[in-house]
Order: sequence, then C-alpha cells, then structure tokens
Amino acid sequence: MRILVTGGAGFIGTNYVYFVLARHPNDDVTVLDALTYAGNLENFKQLEGNPRFRFVKGDVCDAALAEGLVKQADAVVHIAAETHVDRSIQDATAFVRTNVLGTQTLLDACRRNGSVRFHHVSTDEVYGSLGSTGAFSETSPYDPRSPYSASKAGADHLVRAAWHTHRVPATISNCSNNYGPYHFPEKIIPLFITNLLEGKKIPLYGDGMNVRDWIYVEDHCAGIDLALRHGRIGETYCFGGRSERSNAELTRLILFEMGFGSDMIEPVTDRPGHDRRYAIDPSKAERELGWSAATPFLHGLRATIQWFKANPDWWKRVKSGAYRDYYEKQYGVRGVTRPVA
Ligand code: NAD
Ligand code: DAU
Repeated sequence: MRILVTGGAGFIGTNYVYFVLARHPNDDVTVLDALTYAGNLENFKQLEGNPRFRFVKGDVCDAALAEGLVKQADAVVHIAAETHVDRSIQDATAFVRTNVLGTQTLLDACRRNGSVRFHHVSTDEVYGSLGSTGAFSETSPYDPRSPYSASKAGADHLVRAAWHTHRVPATISNCSNNYGPYHFPEKIIPLFITNLLEGKKIPLYGDGMNVRDWIYVEDHCAGIDLALRHGRIGETYCFGGRSERSNAELTRLILFEMGFGSDMIEPVTDRPGHDRRYAIDPSKAERELGWSAATPFLHGLRATIQWFKANPDWWKRVKSGAYRDYYEKQYGVRGVTRPVA
C-alpha cells in the first residue's frame, strides 16, 4: 500500500512512519508536512536513502499539492494539525486554518480520486470534560471547549460529512493523551523531563488535580494502523490507555523516576477553561479491531525518560528552536526530500 501520512514530521506522525516501515515491508510512505515549529525533518535522518520513504515539504491547505499527492496514494493517514491547547488559547487562527480547512482540502482531493482511503486522527478532547466518573466512547456527544478541540471537532464532522455525502471511504479515531519518543517539549511529559534534565523547575497548572488518560505512542500507532486496514468504513474508534493519572500524580512519578524532590514543582496559574478529566473506554477498538494498549504506564514512562536522556541534542535543538538551521546545514533538506513527480 502507498500511504500518504500528513504531519509525519511531528510526534505521532514520526512514530507512525517508523511503525509502518517496520511492520509492513510492502508499503511505501510519503510524508506531507509543512515543518511548522512542531515538525522536525531531523527525525528522518535514519531513513535517508530508503526507497520506501519520501518527504514532501508542504501545506495540507495547498489544494494542488494535496491533489497531486493523493493521486499517487492508496490511503491517506491524516495526522497533521496544530495541537497545543495553550497556543490555541493565545491565537486560534492557525488551528482553524490547518485543522478545519486543511482537513477539508484533503477530503476534497480524496473525493476527486474516488477510492482513496482516508483515516483521520483525532482526539478525545472533542467530547469535552468529564466529572469524577465515567469515560468517553464513540457515542459520547461532542462538546469541545478549547479552540483546539473545537477545530478538531469541526474536522471530525467534515470527515463524517464526506463519507455520508460523497462516499469518501473514511474512518476516524479519537485518542487520549500520548507520550513517548519525539514528543515536542511543550507538552507536560516531555516539558517536565527536559526541564529536570536542565535543572529547571516544572510548572504545574492550578491544583494539579486535572486527570488525563495516558497511552504510549506506539500503542496509538498500532490502533491507527488497525483502523486503517481493518476498520469499518464510516466508523469511529476510540483509543485510550486505561491509565488515568492526575497531573499531580504524574508529576510525582516523573520526579521520583528522575531522582528529584517536590521542591522542583512550581505551581502556576491555571489554563483558562482547563478541562478537568479525560478518560476513554476503548472497548469497541478492543472488540472489533483486536487492539489493546499493551504498554504499562510505568514501563512507557521509563522508556520515555530514557529516550530523552539518550537524545539531548534532539530536544536541546528543538527547545531552543535552533534545529532548523542545524539540520539544513548538517543534512541539507534535499537529503531526504524528493520533489513530487
Ligand atoms: P505535533 O504538533 O507533534 O505534530 C504536528 C505535525 O503537523 C508537525 O509535524 C507539523 O509540522 C505538521 N503540520 C502542522 N500544520 C501543518 C500544515 N498546515 N500542513 C502540513 N503539516 C502541518 O502533533 P502530535 O502530538 O503528533 O499530534 C498529531 C495528531 O494527533 C493531531 O491531529 C492531534 O490532534 C492528534 N492527537 C494527538 C494526541 C497527543 O496526545 N499528542 C492525542 C490524540 C490525538
Ligand atoms: O487528550 C488528547 C490531547 O492531549 C491532544 O489532542 C492534544 O494535542 C495534546 O496536546 C494533549 O492535550 P493536553 O492539553 O491534555 O496536553 P498538555 O500536555 O498540554 O497538558 C496535559 C495536562 O497537563 C493538562 O491538564 C495541563 C497540564 N499542564 C500542561 C503543561 C504544558 C501543566 O500542568 N503544566 C504544563 O506546563
């Protein structure tokens, strides 16, 4: 299968590209990525010269480029998005453009190319915020509460509309909070790990009692891949780690695993409109796709801490914003970029 992966140079995208290339020897991957602040071409240096991999720098809102690439693909795995809630609170413009318009642009390209399969990677945040009990599932009503989650909800609705109206063969997955290698160090886990490695304090929002349901990124990639290959067209699948932690508990675990005390915590003002609790009931994906979140949280957290310890050059360049200059000098963007035929 020839798979077009949008947003492949980001956190989940990079992990998904390596997942597909390792597990499906007959598949080829083309990454379409705009290389925003969150995209990093350096992630693919091990793939230089790999004939099964191609990188194209470009915007998912570019209709002509999307059309050309979709024509050459059997499936699109749409991962590209603006993803950080705090940034969406400061300015939602890029979120609306990329997440809403970008998704529609790709759907239009798929519609014009008949049978191209589309899998849309979305988030549990579209369902809003939970109280102290219960969990989101595929039948939960949409109730997005941040500009980020509202833009992702808009994209989900457009994907469903493309299936119902134009028969674009699409599936959607809504996943809980990921963590693992290549995670951009603005999100809580990589931010806290890298701050501690730098000897800096870690900013805990509000009372620290907000809850997230953590899933190791490789388990999410396995779910995306199963949904793409075995999911029922028109269906949604929810993925979650069955691993809820309050931010305070998560913080204590990171501090303990890295050998620091609670004096490194810096309580800071809460995020406006901060969703209290997310949790996913992944029964449908377990039952229908034979999927499960295989990685125990502590195992995944230790592997993640190890990855950041082993890759200081990566996160230091990413954190300082200097990686673009570095890899263009070091590898030359054309080293792994081939133009669209
Ligand atoms: P990320 O921010 O690490 O990466 C996003 C990637 O998209 C980057 O490589 C960026 O350059 C690219 N991109 C942004 N705008 C683009 C555009 N206009 N055209 C082309 N490429 C563009 O994000 P992530 O954490 O890897 O999340 C990936 C997807 O998974 C998103 O759709 C997000 O909503 C979803 N998701 C993430 C999580 C999570 O915990 N990280 C959980 C559930 C769902
Ligand atoms: O639930 C899936 C979503 O998870 C994805 O759709 C988003 O793309 C992804 O960014 C993530 O959103 P969150 O807002 O949950 O992730 P973040 O890492 O920003 O925050 C996790 C929790 O940690 C949240 O309750 C806010 C808190 N936090 C976050 C940061 C960055 C802190 O306490 N301090 C921090 O510095």
